Amino acid sequence: TTPPHRLVRGQLLHFLADPGPADDPATWQFFDDGGLWIADGHIRAAGPWASVCAALPPGVHEAATLHDYRGRLVLPGFVDCHLHYPQAGVIASYGRQLLAWLNDYVFPAEARFADASEAERTAAFVVDRLLAHGTTTASVFATVHPHSVDAFFAAAEARGLRMLCGKVLMDRNCPENLRDTAAGGIADSLRLIERWHGRGRLRYSLTPRFAPTSSPEQLRLTGELLASQPGLHLQTHLAETPAELDWVQQLFPERRSYLDVYQHYGLAGPRTLHAHCIHLSTAERHSMAASGAAAAFCPGSNLFLGSGFFDLDASRSAGLRVGLATDIGAGTGFGLLRTLAQAYEVGQACRAPLSAPRGFYLATLGGARALYLDEHIGNFQPGREADFIALDWAATPELAWRMERCQGLAERLFALMMLGDERCVVATHVMGEVAFVR
Ligand code: GUN
Ligand code: ZN
Repeated sequence: TTPPHRLVRGQLLHFLADPGPADDPATWQFFDDGGLWIADGHIRAAGPWASVCAALPPGVHEAATLHDYRGRLVLPGFVDCHLHYPQAGVIASYGRQLLAWLNDYVFPAEARFADASEAERTAAFVVDRLLAHGTTTASVFATVHPHSVDAFFAAAEARGLRMLCGKVLMDRNCPENLRDTAAGGIADSLRLIERWHGRGRLRYSLTPRFAPTSSPEQLRLTGELLASQPGLHLQTHLAETPAELDWVQQLFPERRSYLDVYQHYGLAGPRTLHAHCIHLSTAERHSMAASGAAAAFCPGSNLFLGSGFFDLDASRSAGLRVGLATDIGAGTGFGLLRTLAQAYEVGQACRAPLSAPRGFYLATLGGARALYLDEHIGNFQPGREADFIALDWAATPELAWRMERCQGLAERLFALMMLGDERCVVATHVMGEVAFVR
């Protein structure tokens, strides 16, 4: 009975695989009266409460801390595959498409991060708001300033979170006060990798902003660095708007396509995450999937900037790894529940509605797979880190009214996905421990 033991009782839902186009019920487990046994911050067992208890070694039940979430939905912590923490202060900035929005709002906000205290205050705020929304892991852009990465990782480490972050690499087509150089950006990244990569639950993600703001030399060096150290991640943006595609073609006339730019420099493969991926051909989706690269679906951001509709079904058919993302600050909320509702509405606009099982898969195991972190997080299989949330099905009068009239789990999950928000998050646990209580 030595390690700290915890027992969690509640309505447990987790996924073992992608539910696929037909929502195969063999891909998830739901235990109406479920139990989790956690030791040393890791899942030891998940199942019906009675069976989990019956299998406990002698003395463990008496020694364990009990978290009673009966009547609540207990899910693995949400995984937000793409967001920019420095943009928290410019969410909901009016009336622009991507490139003008970057110039008018985002670059000035990121320039304010030259002040390290602005970075530290923002990092603490963002990490706490993510926890309040049920998000326990994210892939996060900092700014071009190395200390912006220190600030974010320090805030994540203080709360024990599994997080990816990186310094933005950007050596052209941007304001001077946000510009690095090809060699300088790599040197800064190397120092940050030394300091943070693999420290506890933190992993470094190389972060070329997107092809237009990096010289060919910067992309080349980034690809070399990515290949040189096993376990490094990479995050960038791909095919978000038509104007951006035109710009990339002008800047890289010798490359066949936007995706080809990244592939040419070795920036599309396992552990690379490409945000948006809206304006891609079928052949490009297949090519991305074959390389092992993943896409972040950012429905709120894509609607906010008028960028277009991500084709989730085509991505699934191509075998592409897809995660869900807020893309703060083009996304206007920190939560994946609201993002799921937006994803459903985008699906409807494309005549391909997103089902609730597929939605909750994307927000948990799908995101963990997109980030290549599924050996650590994403479901309740034994050995996984015990990051989980408890959700109140009836946190608002509208939810309560609707839930009383729902027939069965599928209807309840769908109503939660469409009507739920951070008011549903009763508690967020990190490595078993309570990290947020509403
Ligand atoms: N493309 C390049 N930079 C950005 C950014 O900060 N936000 C979004 N949404 N797209 C980008
Ligand atoms: Zn982004």
